[in-house]
Amino acid sequence: ADALFLQSKHVVITAGPTEELIDPVRFISNKSSGKMGYALAEAASKMGAKVTLISGPVNIEAPKNIQLVKVQSAKQMLQQVMNIINECDIFISCAAVADYACSQVSEHKLKKQNDQPILTLELIKNPDILATVGKLPSKPFCVGFAAETQNVEQYARTKLVQKNIDWIVANDVSKEGIGFNSDDNQVTLISHDKTMKLKKMTKQKLAYTILETVCAVN
Ligand code: PMT
Repeated sequence: ADALFLQSKHVVITAGPTEELIDPVRFISNKSSGKMGYALAEAASKMGAKVTLISGPVNIEAPKNIQLVKVQSAKQMLQQVMNIINECDIFISCAAVADYACSQVSEHKLKKQNDQPILTLELIKNPDILATVGKLPSKPFCVGFAAETQNVEQYARTKLVQKNIDWIVANDVSKEGIGFNSDDNQVTLISHDKTMKLKKMTKQKLAYTILETVCAVN
């Protein structure tokens, strides 16, 4: 593909985990490092795109020449995505968004109860950011990820259809050395009429391959 084939495109990427507060000092989160999403942001920028990276809390540095928007929770991520989605040509949802948040956040640090061996947290479903974008009447070209530990391709295909998106990157996160937090990844790219199983490679290399493949028709 042309070195600058995303020139004049605005690409919005979500990355990293979200943190859902339990109390002022505790939260529920996951093992996403942000590496995959940040690699996509860097690659898209090098390919000429204007890039907005909406990121949960991570410990890696953002690429230069992109706009970084930091968030903590899924609800904040949704808000920032919706703020900008009308100016966006391509939306890539790489973030590991928490499916559930605490139904109420304790104002004070929860105290250990010596007579209570079991503590129950009540969780409530978070909004689905990608599905929300997929429902927009004039939606951007949408690319999702599917992190699965079983029936990877089948579950990914279901998400492609249910979230009403153009491509899904199926990521088997049960294997050592790929997926969450590793430097390499191995995925299958799935659209409504194509399936492309890619070999294992660095997240940097994979980011270029994903953009070249899924945005080729855009
Ligand atoms: O950050 P790294 O350490 O580099 O790891 C990369 C990764 C494993 C996190 C990444 O490759 C990946 O698979 N990201 C998707 C993780 C995920 O949450 O997948 P999911 O199958 O639960 O969600 C499906 C899709 O819906 C995803 O595009 C997700 O961003 C989106 N989603 C999910 C829930 C929700 N409430 N809102 C969403 O937008």
